[in-house]
Amino acid sequence: MHILDIILKKRNGRKLTREEITFIVDGYTKDMIPDYQVSAFLMAVYFRGMDQDETLWLTEAMLHSGDIVDLSNIPGIKVDKHSTGGVGDKTTLIIGPIVASCGVPVAKMSGRGLGHTGGTIDKLESIPGFRTNLSKEEFVENVREIGLAVAGQTGNLAPADKKFYALRDVTGTIENISLIAASIMSKKLASGSDAITLDIKTGSGAFMKTVEDATVLGRAMVDIGHGAGKKITALITEMDRPLGLAIGNALEVAEAINVLKGDGPQDLTQVCIELASNMLMHGGKGTMETCRRLAANALADGSAMMKLVEMIKRQGGDPGVAEDPSRLPKAPIQVEWKADISGYIHSMQAEKLGMASMVLGAGRKTKTDVIDPSSGIVLLKKAGDRIDKGEPLAILHTSVEETIAEATSLLYSSIRVQSEPVEQRPLILGRVE
Ligand code: URA
Repeated sequence: MHILDIILKKRNGRKLTREEITFIVDGYTKDMIPDYQVSAFLMAVYFRGMDQDETLWLTEAMLHSGDIVDLSNIPGIKVDKHSTGGVGDKTTLIIGPIVASCGVPVAKMSGRGLGHTGGTIDKLESIPGFRTNLSKEEFVENVREIGLAVAGQTGNLAPADKKFYALRDVTGTIENISLIAASIMSKKLASGSDAITLDIKTGSGAFMKTVEDATVLGRAMVDIGHGAGKKITALITEMDRPLGLAIGNALEVAEAINVLKGDGPQDLTQVCIELASNMLMHGGKGTMETCRRLAANALADGSAMMKLVEMIKRQGGDPGVAEDPSRLPKAPIQVEWKADISGYIHSMQAEKLGMASMVLGAGRKTKTDVIDPSSGIVLLKKAGDRIDKGEPLAILHTSVEETIAEATSLLYSSIRVQSEPVEQRPLILGRVE
């Protein structure tokens, strides 16, 4: 088999075989095919696409390039979730404890934030002492013992994806549905769960800007999951608006704790109940209606909160943050952002809010930037609300005073105000089975 023949075949729009795809993935992972030829291959895929079979074969080749976590000696159906990333998306911190407290084991590997989107690992690390770098053995042991572990990617999972992603990043080949779906799903399948709930975010703060694009990505990922023998569902959820009111790591942990105490923002609570119910349904706990009741009860009776405390203790964190969120890192500077006009908020672009939070110190522009866990934004008003000139719209939290001017200018550019009330679109925009 020759790499050039495979490049030409895809360039000319023909379907590749499983063997050809595996040849490229293995060859590149073992440094036997150079970057320039794989770049040409990726560009051919970008323009010509891959069908459902090819996308599954690519996923499987990347999945088998490294370790696969073995959860088979843990009783029950093990479930996982994945969000394509958004602003203020702290759902894992809430859903994991809800689902585990209902008796369905959750094994979740998460990532760090980059650009305007946050990452669950950064959020958890804002809890003093919390460890996210679990070994594979410790990860499995925690799921077996307490039904819940959330960790950074452990071991050598899907190393081919790491190489392919880095090359795609510098060759203009990120935005292809098959490549994105195979990249995400190879890592999800390597994490070893039996069932996966996907949260495909759509809107200004998300990777997928339209419901149509999000649905196409959801379909591709669900097809891969089925092809690999998993239970899988994708929910398409709203990300024109940030989820909840807090954006930034420790601020989001505090908000997640409020939701688990039954006192969180309504939008965040609703999306969490919907995603958790889906995971419970995959876990064999009944219909969506039954599972919605189970999830709501786990919030109401405090069992989900207790499960979070158990996970924090188990992973070395300070469990006292649950009772007393003031033990989380606190920014020394807090300033109000005020309305310069009266009316109804038509929209507050999530992407710009995420960028403002990043400027304040909560995010990374590049992978090597160090984040400040205490910084970010807490919104006091959201799209749809009535505001009066001079009224505070948000509190900015930072350790670096010089960041405030740039963050505030981003915030003013994020908001559109009009004289008439504005209806907001629903939070759950679609479902792909
Ligand atoms: N996230 C991933 O892990 N891979 C992609 O290709 C895009 C987003």
